Amino acid sequence: MQPLTEYVTDVLIIGSGAAGLSLALRLAEHCKVIILSKDLLNESSTWYAQGGIAAVFEDMDSINSHVEDTLQAGAGLCNRDVVEFIASNARHCVEWLVQQGVLFDVEAENATLPVPLNTRYHLTREGGHSYRRVLHAADATGKAIETILIHKAALHPNIHIIEHCHAVDLVTSNTIGLCGPSRVVGTYIWNRSQEKVERCYACAAVVLATGGASKVYQYTTNPDISSGDGIAMAWRAGCRVANLEFNQFHPTSLFHPQARNFLLTEALRGEGAYLYRPDGSRFMPDFDLRAELAPRDIVARAIDHEMRRLGAKCMYLDISYRPEKFIRHHFPTIYDKLRTLDIDLTRQPIPIVPAAHYTCGGVMVDKHGRTDLDGLYAIGEVSYTGLHGANRLASNSLLECLVYGWTASVDILHRLPTFVKQEHQLPSWNHSSISNSGYGDEIVLQQHWQELRLLMWDHVGIVRTTKRLESALYRINFLTKEMNEYYSNFRISHAALEVRNLLQVAGLIVKSALLRKESRGLHYTLDYPTMQPNPQPTILQPGRKAYYYGSG
Ligand code: FAD
Ligand code: SIN
Repeated sequence: MQPLTEYVTDVLIIGSGAAGLSLALRLAEHCKVIILSKDLLNESSTWYAQGGIAAVFEDMDSINSHVEDTLQAGAGLCNRDVVEFIASNARHCVEWLVQQGVLFDVEAENATLPVPLNTRYHLTREGGHSYRRVLHAADATGKAIETILIHKAALHPNIHIIEHCHAVDLVTSNTIGLCGPSRVVGTYIWNRSQEKVERCYACAAVVLATGGASKVYQYTTNPDISSGDGIAMAWRAGCRVANLEFNQFHPTSLFHPQARNFLLTEALRGEGAYLYRPDGSRFMPDFDLRAELAPRDIVARAIDHEMRRLGAKCMYLDISYRPEKFIRHHFPTIYDKLRTLDIDLTRQPIPIVPAAHYTCGGVMVDKHGRTDLDGLYAIGEVSYTGLHGANRLASNSLLECLVYGWTASVDILHRLPTFVKQEHQLPSWNHSSISNSGYGDEIVLQQHWQELRLLMWDHVGIVRTTKRLESALYRINFLTKEMNEYYSNFRISHAALEVRNLLQVAGLIVKSALLRKESRGLHYTLDYPTMQPNPQPTILQPGRKAYYYGSG
């Protein structure tokens, strides 16, 4: 007899960052939710977020100004309607976080607990923002948010948390022989500790909240979980993806042999830090009137330009002219981390390089987070909503996670009554022709992984050319062929799943980049150095030739 499906729920949420957890907590008052996380629950980009969340809280500021700054940073490719939707829903979503118990820094005169909702928050500033508009918890905003949300989710009787389990592929109703239009019904799950494939059936919805794909690059600020799994799974299930050529490189990642992916928040520049060449001269004023506070694409490109021009290994970020007390109060996490590396933020310039930071494109969704596949949602960094355009404005990402956590919850709860709580059997994973991979195979896998990430860094980085993109695609296709052979012949492993997804997403990034015959925002190519009129998002559809399409 076929074994029963291991897990059954109303809603399956894949991912436990800000997007997944906030959605889970909103849904759990009304239905059963499973949260799946492929690592420890807190291991997410959210946990490492430093700068904060953008939202209008000051009278001087306005939603219109937030909208205009986002559009400006997005270099003509944002969807204005979506930008307005997110900016105008920012405040109530941030206040929801405060109600959950998240403590944002407040102005000194308000520094009492509990924090009333009309309190004056300390707002910091980041590149591209016309006003101070970034709420933060010192320089560890993500940790403050994630800690509270995890605490609440762990205590909730309707939330079942599954850690160290990796969603492998989505299952649709058609693939299990149900009649009617295709809809998602669940996923296969790789249980890392027990080394077996399990199944989860979801009656109402499956939500991808799997974060971005920056691990496709050799140097990144992201944790290891950012391997583009959600984008790859959605693509394999037939969903469209958009704007994947826009990979955001953060200008200031620490350059140090023992800490290659440590971020130095943009809020340092917001609070006055300058960028210097190795000879101590400033360079940002030569590139943009906004100097260090220009949007990220401009600052990262300027750093890359100066490093190449001078043959320098890094540039330097310096805030040491500000009072020690101020620096240690605002940036305690960074101060402590640098001290462990014998660097003193209050006294010396810090060596920095740009690193892959954020995936601006992703799975196409509407304003409720619905994808092309019925019942499948995508929220947070995995998605393409139209907010970021060709370059994300700082601190708009956590905001997008929260607004879509909210709007998706409204939509899912609305459709919940239409679903008969009927469990269908998901077929067992096909283990036939699977053999244990030997030691040699794991080494091959590691080599693929390393080659891919270096290839992407060298050929699909901050400055691109058509020739380099074509050569990257050729190599990715070759590695994909080898990987498919491996994947179909050997027992799956965590590494095999990630390499497969990274290769899939890398291919989509390069194809998107080849389609864009202009330079815009984060996509800069020497072959088409100028912007073209009437920009459109790059949309790829499984099984079809890529195309540009409408306003997204
Ligand atoms: P994540 O927080 O990345 O969570 C993804 C989750 O999905 C993880 O739990 C992971 O385990 C799980 N997962 C992935 N694949 C699978 C799978 N196959 N099966 C099961 N689980 C899976 N943005 C801001 O707005 N402000 C900031 O100050 C800021 N600072 C940042 C600093 C750093 C160092 C980094 C890396 C990013 C920063 N960002 C910031 C960006 C922002 O943090 C992320 O975009 C955002 O947190 C993404 O949230 P998410 O919920 O979409 O995904
Ligand atoms: C940072 O703190 O510099 C990161 C902010 C962001 O990615 O939005």
